[in-house]
Amino acid sequence: MAGKSKIIYQCSQCGFETAKWVGKCPGCGEWNTMLEILKEPVSPQKAAAARSLGSRSHAVPINEISTDDEQRYHTGLSELDRVLGGGIVKGSLVLISGDPGIGKSTILLQICEYLGQSLRVLYVSGEESARQIKLRAARLGVQSSNLLILTETDIQLVVEQIRQEKPDLVMVDSIQTMNHTELTSSPGSVTQVRECTNTMMRCAKALDIPVILVGHVNKDGAIAGPKVLEHIVDAVLYFEGDRQMTYRILRAVKNRYGSTNEIGVFDMGDRGLKQVENPSQAMLSGRPKDVAGSCVTAVMEGTRPLLAEIQGLATTSGYGTPRRMSTGFDYNRMALILAVLEKRAGFYFSNLDSYVNVVGGLRLDEPAVDLAVAVSLISSLKDTPVREDTVVFGEIGLTGELRSVSHSDLRIAEAARLGFTRCVLPYHGVRNLKSGAVEGMELIGARTLREAYEACV
Ligand code: TYD
Ligand code: MG
Repeated sequence: MAGKSKIIYQCSQCGFETAKWVGKCPGCGEWNTMLEILKEPVSPQKAAAARSLGSRSHAVPINEISTDDEQRYHTGLSELDRVLGGGIVKGSLVLISGDPGIGKSTILLQICEYLGQSLRVLYVSGEESARQIKLRAARLGVQSSNLLILTETDIQLVVEQIRQEKPDLVMVDSIQTMNHTELTSSPGSVTQVRECTNTMMRCAKALDIPVILVGHVNKDGAIAGPKVLEHIVDAVLYFEGDRQMTYRILRAVKNRYGSTNEIGVFDMGDRGLKQVENPSQAMLSGRPKDVAGSCVTAVMEGTRPLLAEIQGLATTSGYGTPRRMSTGFDYNRMALILAVLEKRAGFYFSNLDSYVNVVGGLRLDEPAVDLAVAVSLISSLKDTPVREDTVVFGEIGLTGELRSVSHSDLRIAEAARLGFTRCVLPYHGVRNLKSGAVEGMELIGARTLREAYEACV
């Protein structure tokens, strides 16, 4: 007969196991690495059964494996479907994460209306009362009779309910509030989060129902709980954006069923999140005219081109060491661009405070943004506005050379669609372009940073 599962302590560094908690791992000598884990004893009969099952499994040629049963549920939000790679895959475990108040609970509740038309959805909340959820649902216009609400924090009771109600889709808001009663550590601790996620994963795979988990982020912006959480789940979606602004960007950080480059753009209104059909236009709305330090660039987000405004500010420093700050753009990359501007192009920033900001709460890490960052900084330095009809993109190399980037034609087409008529890009990029892809757009190929800047003003 199988015994009760017991708690042991395992070192997260070397895997050493003890029955009692210790501060220093006897195995590897690391401090504070012992984590509580639940060990299920394996009965001899079960082990024998598993082994006999194991002996029956054998390798199969890849072209004989059927993929017909990959079924996806559409959420009614095409932006969300896009990030998921085409919808929620049956039996998958998806983690949605982001800062508090960014809209995780809102988006989940919102898609329940559409999903509820054909599926039974169980929404488990450990954060809000059923009444609070009902009030929010009413505001979002969600009144599906197929939506079941469960306020519970005991993960085993949640699984029990899932087995009883047999929903087609489960949402758990949030995984940090769930707890496994056999573990003594408090909800939200590494051990609890991992064990609860594992429980939900077993449930998702065993019953073949998709489960969406909400995960909190900690102060550093990482998903609270161990990195293993990201390893366990099939997809990790990250909600980003400025809470002060209404735009929200949903990005896939990991996805076993789709690309991780795609983003979805939403706008938070008084009736929940709305999809932004024309993100480029949204990102450029309210762009200041005739002001130095603003420059528009075209980036690729997955298969989609997107225009974004980059702002740069260079101002006399009050301190011995000048300040550098960037929002939405990699800080080290900015430092590198400033160094190149100084050393290779003769624009001096060494005694100036320099700031870079990507408008709209976007995070851009494509090298194609380099040139726009450089141009906006020079524009601020020289106090000369960049021409309003001009869009800029290109990568900057350490020797000050401009390097062409991929998908120039798509970027240019997007800029043309939004009324831009001039495009400054690396010289080699122009040569590689297929003719005809860029009607009504004046292309200016720049060889050096200075040439690029002069073409912009
Ligand atoms: P919420 O989904 O509760 O955030 P999370 O679950 O990620 O912590 O989002 C709440 C925020 O969104 C809150 O600040 C209010 C705002 N909001 C709206 O602006 N409009 C709405 O229709 C809803 C439901 C929320
Ligand atoms: Mg919430």
